[in-house]
Amino acid sequence: MLNFAIQTAREAGSLLAERFGRAMRVTNKSELDLVTESDLAAERLIIDRIKTYHPRHAILAEESGASSPGSSAALTEWRWIIDPLDGTTNYAHGYPCFCVSIGLERAGRMELGVIYDPMRDEVFTAERGAGASLNGRRIGVSPTNDLTGALLCTGFPYDVRERSEFARHFTNFIMNAQAVRRDGAAALDLAYVACGRFDGFWEEGLKPWDVAAGSLMVEEAGGRISNYAGGPLSIYDPPILASNGRIHEQMMRVLSV
Ligand code: IPD
Ligand code: CA
Ligand code: CA
Repeated sequence: MLNFAIQTAREAGSLLAERFGRAMRVTNKSELDLVTESDLAAERLIIDRIKTYHPRHAILAEESGASSPGSSAALTEWRWIIDPLDGTTNYAHGYPCFCVSIGLERAGRMELGVIYDPMRDEVFTAERGAGASLNGRRIGVSPTNDLTGALLCTGFPYDVRERSEFARHFTNFIMNAQAVRRDGAAALDLAYVACGRFDGFWEEGLKPWDVAAGSLMVEEAGGRISNYAGGPLSIYDPPILASNGRIHEQMMRVLSV
């Protein structure tokens, strides 16, 4: 199933890359939340592949929602969780930072995750109990011990204007970390924590397809994933705090202020 997910993420990523930078129809889901023709085409491609090769698995996809083949529970306990284009705002502006994210959940637990960045041709993968890799080479989180030396990343939820605590957290991290980035593709941000490019990531208001693959990846790379208070993360109930583990408590302290 990992090979299937890699192949499918690569195909969807190539579709996104081919259309990248061309004029396209962009629709607003809300004031700040966009959807392009490419989101829809990539999602159709992924769903077609799943229906062909795993017809009895359920699907949760950003643009078309949840669907289930309605067969026996033993088979529908498998569910693909898909973000066909994470980083839509970047994509629509021609900013080359976006990815495809595909996760597979079994009975409520993430089993595998694939995140593909077609601009850099980077495939990040994770399988429960088998570690995480980048283009086939094993990856691990960073060794940074101190928040003062940490490169962090965050994202602004689409309803950020209604979330006053976000600005407070952002300011506090700027004052306490080495630097803070905001790249605009949460799945890729998590893959970057997994491979040690970022030391930590926090965001609220994310959806299951943003974090399904990436949360397993961080864990399998030796990092830590939780909610802001350090409790277990539910991909259905963000906020999410991801780190190399070493700076996790320090980040929790900042988020508690
Ligand atoms: C968004 C991106 C962004 C995050 C938003 C997400 P989309 O996903 O991951 O980084 O800040 O909260 O909704 O809409 O580009 O798939
Ligand atoms: Ca997303
Ligand atoms: Ca998306």
